[in-house]
Amino acid sequence: MLAKSLPLLALFLASANAAALPYRRFQVRSTAADSTDTMPPSTAPANATGGCSASSSWQFDSTNHANITSGDRSFLVHLPANYDPTTPHALVVSFHGFKANGKKQELITGLSEKGLTLNGKGIVAVFPNGQFGPGKNGNESIRAWQGAPYSPPGVDDIAFTQQMVQQLSDNLCLDSNRFYASGKSNGGGFTNLLACTPATASLFAAFAPVSAALYAGANPTNCTPGRPVPIISFHGLADKIIPFDGQTADRENRTEYATPNITQYREAWAERNGCSTSAPVAALSSSTNGPKIGFDAVVSHPHADTTLKTSDCSAQDDHAVLNGFTVKGLGHSWPSTAGLDGGVTDFNATTANILPFFDMHAMGASS
Ligand SMILES: *[C@@H]1O[C@H](CO)[C@@H](O)[C@H](O)[C@H]1NC(C)=O
Ligand SMILES: *[C@@H]1O[C@H](CO)[C@@H](O)[C@H](O)[C@H]1NC(C)=O
Ligand SMILES: *[C@@H]1O[C@H](CO)[C@@H](O)[C@H](O)[C@H]1NC(C)=O
Ligand SMILES: *[C@@H]1O[C@H](CO)[C@@H](O)[C@H](O)[C@H]1NC(C)=O
Ligand SMILES: *[C@@H]1O[C@H](CO)[C@@H](O)[C@H](O)[C@H]1NC(C)=O
Ligand SMILES: *[C@@H]1O[C@H](CO)[C@@H](O)[C@H](O)[C@H]1NC(C)=O
Repeated sequence: MLAKSLPLLALFLASANAAALPYRRFQVRSTAADSTDTMPPSTAPANATGGCSASSSWQFDSTNHANITSGDRSFLVHLPANYDPTTPHALVVSFHGFKANGKKQELITGLSEKGLTLNGKGIVAVFPNGQFGPGKNGNESIRAWQGAPYSPPGVDDIAFTQQMVQQLSDNLCLDSNRFYASGKSNGGGFTNLLACTPATASLFAAFAPVSAALYAGANPTNCTPGRPVPIISFHGLADKIIPFDGQTADRENRTEYATPNITQYREAWAERNGCSTSAPVAALSSSTNGPKIGFDAVVSHPHADTTLKTSDCSAQDDHAVLNGFTVKGLGHSWPSTAGLDGGVTDFNATTANILPFFDMHAMGASS
């Protein structure tokens, strides 16, 4: 008799859970689908920057590129083919890894490929160049971002990023509700630092750290963004540079190269964004901050060898989500079918997940 009633009980529990989680994004998902695709693009209005009503002296070449230099800094800008100087476009900034540069970052991310859109319009993709630091042995001259043991001393890349975004806003027609930051390795660590810093956590709508080098300077213990922050994180289980399990020192026993266990890093973001680490999922039906779910409440397998844990613990209007993609067999690479950054995956992180995620998260969303 008990056995007979079990299916009914299961049905009852399932519907009780559904009622406790009243948002569309909490509904049962197809396991084959990428769960990031189940929330619709944000309907936040565009917020036109000054560049929509001003002229600019920036010159773009026949491939729609410009290298903008400002003092001792530079960044590579790519305009979409259909760029309209009177229509606000989303801005995606992508920070290169240690030893790399903006041009290389453009190549591995594919962010300047034809046809990419956010909010239905072509994206402006920007690839800044880091300053030259001392390298890992302290005696070289190698590009790097703030937050690593090998960062150039005294360089304020947060201030540089703010100034760069201001210049872009003044010269191009951008949508300031749709500024996004992404980066690989050292650039992924810096992307995390931008998310941890109130001034930039409120400048960019969402963040994509990939194979992030989360040294202490890039992942401060007092990370206080000032708002729940949407983050999409990718990390390979075969990463030997920044191991998924974390490390207390590098191969040369240098403790300044310590990096966190990536699962714990993600859980820390989920908690910071409002997830409870202790209460079971079903008990978290409501609170003053809206519904919450546990940080590993939704697990899916959107691609071969890939596990996605979605932790959506936000109040109903801020859409703060932590999406953690863990890729079996992937090393220290930006996931790409073409192996543009070394490792080959059966999906392109940029188009399959990062841009759709960005599209769901904009500033200025109304309830
Ligand atoms: C920008 O700089 C890179 C690296 O120096 C170079 O390869 C590229 O051709 C430059 N692009 C433009 C538009 O000047
Ligand atoms: C820098 O130092 C390392 C180790 O101390 C040494 O192996 C390397 O040759 C040096 N590089 C340069 C460019 O001097
Ligand atoms: C990483 O953290 C997770 C979550 O706390 C834990 O389950 C896992 O065992 C940790 N991995 C290692 C290698 O310590
Ligand atoms: C690192 O520390 C371990 C354990 O103390 C030691 O065996 C090893 O030789 C050290 N490696 C280097 C490069 O110093
Ligand atoms: C991934 O990107 C590369 C380079 O842009 C492209 O050649 C390839 O077709 C893309 N793969 C998929 C599955 O979209
Ligand atoms: C538009 O952007 C400005 C400056 O970034 C900000 O102060 C303002 O609140 C935004 N307005 C809307 C409607 O999002």
